[in-house]
Amino acid sequence: MEMIIKPAEKIEGQTRVPGDKSISHRALILSSLTEGTVEIEGLLKSADTMSTLKCLQELGVEFEENGRTVKVKGKGLRGFAEPDNVLDAGNSGTTARLLTGLLSGQPFHSVLTGDDSLRRRPMKRVTEPLRKMGASISGRQNGELLPLAIRGNDLLPISYTLPVASAQVKSALLIAALFAGGASEIIDYYQTRDHTERALRYLNADIKKTGKYHIVIKSPTNLRGERFQIPGDISAAAFFIVAAALAPRGELYLEEVGVNPSRTGIIDLLREMGAQISIHNRREYNCEPVADLLVKGSRPLRGISVGKEAIPRLVDEIPVLAVAGLFAHGETVIQGAEELRLKESDRLKSIFLELKKMGALIEELPDGLIIRGCARLSGAELESHGDHRIAMALSVATLFAESESVIKGAETVSISFPDFFTVLNELTC
Ligand code: S3P
Repeated sequence: MEMIIKPAEKIEGQTRVPGDKSISHRALILSSLTEGTVEIEGLLKSADTMSTLKCLQELGVEFEENGRTVKVKGKGLRGFAEPDNVLDAGNSGTTARLLTGLLSGQPFHSVLTGDDSLRRRPMKRVTEPLRKMGASISGRQNGELLPLAIRGNDLLPISYTLPVASAQVKSALLIAALFAGGASEIIDYYQTRDHTERALRYLNADIKKTGKYHIVIKSPTNLRGERFQIPGDISAAAFFIVAAALAPRGELYLEEVGVNPSRTGIIDLLREMGAQISIHNRREYNCEPVADLLVKGSRPLRGISVGKEAIPRLVDEIPVLAVAGLFAHGETVIQGAEELRLKESDRLKSIFLELKKMGALIEELPDGLIIRGCARLSGAELESHGDHRIAMALSVATLFAESESVIKGAETVSISFPDFFTVLNELTC
């Protein structure tokens, strides 16, 4: 699908972005591990979360949809059924990695695959520690690439320091640890997003943080809970936050956004660039902080430097941060972001190539980007590279170009935000 985007003068209005993708995956997977029925309200319904739901259905989990809520009939830790067919995680790294953790604890054979993009993404980061726990896993390149064939087992506890900043790896191990008799310890010096820990705590798992980086989880444990309420996704909100900060006129109010500190790097850095973002009505859903955000036009912004330690808190927002850098005085330098090359596309390359087509002054580094701000952007014919976050970041850039642009492959927004263009249209009218 090709999307034509015209320059916009203002971003104005009030909206609620769809449910948080990371929390939605976790709510589906962890609810299916409970002993009872859990209601999920505000679940993200997009291609990625539907991949998780369909895989769980193949494993015998039943779901009942009723308006804004989805009921999950939990199977307990041991009630899953051997799937008749190959499990397809589609485009979703979270589905593939978290389910590899779950399947490692199941006493049956399963095969897990994904689409062309997912079949190129690294899996050794999960298969290696899961093998250490006792799971039998085989796959292309000795378990580096999907499809994976998994034969689960009674697992052994593990003490493991994350070698890469990945919440997906941490979560896969925390889920597997539910099947390992005893105490497992995961050490996360990167302080990646902690939604799995919070959801497990809500479900009464025996999980504790000992110090800043150490997570200890004990099994056996019976998970139980009644209801997940999912806040709006800050990674989806980020596109509109940047658009509103860059718009010459207007004011944007975003309701019910998840503001978990492990995800709010984009707010902190945009504020450091001079963006006017205020936080209102702080509250909590299932141990997750939630708030409303008000964003005002704040151009021109100031360039900033972003180093490795900041990346985990805004890993998915780097492409749209680069767009903000285009409208900032001075240079914006992003370093230590080599993990972006392993996402749905090589995001450093994709955003560099496409913004360059618009006349941006941007340089690609092995681990980041240098953006020289305040260049004039021309309308251009752009490619999404099959990557939802690249399509949405480019849409924000094109709003402030001198003439209209075309984004090819724009249908990829359905991975995380199916109504993105409708909402964008409403806010720019
Ligand atoms: C996610 C973790 C991050 C993020 C992805 C969602 C999660 O990936 O980029 O969009 O839900 O745990 P990594 O774990 O690979 O860093």
